[in-house]
Amino acid sequence: MVVGAGKRGMHHATAFQANPRFKVIGLCDIDASKLDAAAAKIGGGVKTGTDVSALAKELKPDVFCFCTMPNLRIPMIKAAIAGDAKLIAFEKPVALTSNELLVIRDLLAKVGVKAVVSHQHRYGVHYRKVKEIIASGALGRVHTVYGYATGWMTHMLSHLIDYTRWYNDEADATWVMGQAAGRGKLTDNHPSPDHIAGFVQYANGVRGIYECGAGAPDQPEVAKWWGKCRMGAQGTEGFAEVLTNGGWRAVTKRDGAQNGDGVMNYDLDMPPYIQDMADWLDGLKPHPCLFESAFKGAEIMLAMQQSAISGGQIALPLMSGMDEQEGLKKVLSDRKVLVSSEVNAKEFNV
Ligand SMILES: NC(=O)c1ccc[n+]([C@@H]2O[C@H](COP(=O)([O-])OP(=O)(O)OC[C@H]3O[C@@H](n4cnc5c(N)ncnc54)[C@H](O)[C@@H]3O)[C@@H](O)[C@H]2O)c1
Repeated sequence: MVVGAGKRGMHHATAFQANPRFKVIGLCDIDASKLDAAAAKIGGGVKTGTDVSALAKELKPDVFCFCTMPNLRIPMIKAAIAGDAKLIAFEKPVALTSNELLVIRDLLAKVGVKAVVSHQHRYGVHYRKVKEIIASGALGRVHTVYGYATGWMTHMLSHLIDYTRWYNDEADATWVMGQAAGRGKLTDNHPSPDHIAGFVQYANGVRGIYECGAGAPDQPEVAKWWGKCRMGAQGTEGFAEVLTNGGWRAVTKRDGAQNGDGVMNYDLDMPPYIQDMADWLDGLKPHPCLFESAFKGAEIMLAMQQSAISGGQIALPLMSGMDEQEGLKKVLSDRKVLVSSEVNAKEFNV
């Protein structure tokens, strides 16, 4: 069953329906006007409804997938559990606040349901090539992983952290320190400071550096504004990095300078992301985007905000929750955000 017949809901519903291991039996959206066209597109006599709890209880889907805006997470997890789902698939970011994050973790753990979070860019050929180079040892001792995106925090930071944690062998983080600026996107449907930046200490000694939003550097090699993201790793013998809409590049002592193509593409990334759900449910292997890993990324993202709110370093794991959104609203200064490049000015109305 897929909840949210918007952009991502339809990506998911289409990919589930195209996979022989799945059949979409339910499609839910509060906007009834979307449902007929969406159901016709998915086909197979899918049942539609506007009340998520009622539809989940009636259909008892094996997989409950929700692709609603970031403000809606806990009620969806509860509806999935009440409908006895075996796997819950949902969209990034995992949660807007650590209060919510810890509740979600506890709800899932209590019933032991599998969950995955859609960090599906990692299936891109260029993302995987960078992983392969790093894992081959060609960078020597990896000391730094980094991620930059001009898109704002609640859209992009979750992606940056997830893929660089993968590049860093999913190491735990021990502390985070961050800073934030600009109130313009606090009322967006992906509420965020206009600019956030931070450092992460990973337990394996690797430094993480992250930046999202108006002050983050342009990637002039990439034309599409939302694709101006650069993630990679540096080591004692070179670096390897991916550009979301601009391929990959690496320079290493062993292999010299290399580069290749690759562009984030939902049509290519969704099928393997969905197939990995089937494999996990069939007991073959855990899903690479499983909740337990996304949870650790979310902790880093929220700790960065906590540091921007209260100053100083924030130790991980988080021992208690707070409302980071309220905290940011209280402390962010009225000063207009300063952009890194004119390409960001329009998107942030400055
Ligand atoms: N993984 C990615 O690459 C990626 C890309 C874009 C967006 N996203 C994430 O996907 C999520 C959804 O984004 P989108 O662009 O698909 O949004 P969207 O606005 O296109 O779709 C959301 C849909 O949810 C419906 N909805 C809202 N409340 C509902 C409720 N209570 N019950 C049922 N339906 C409800 C809305 O009517 C809407 O049709 C966001 O969290 C966003 O950050 C992820």
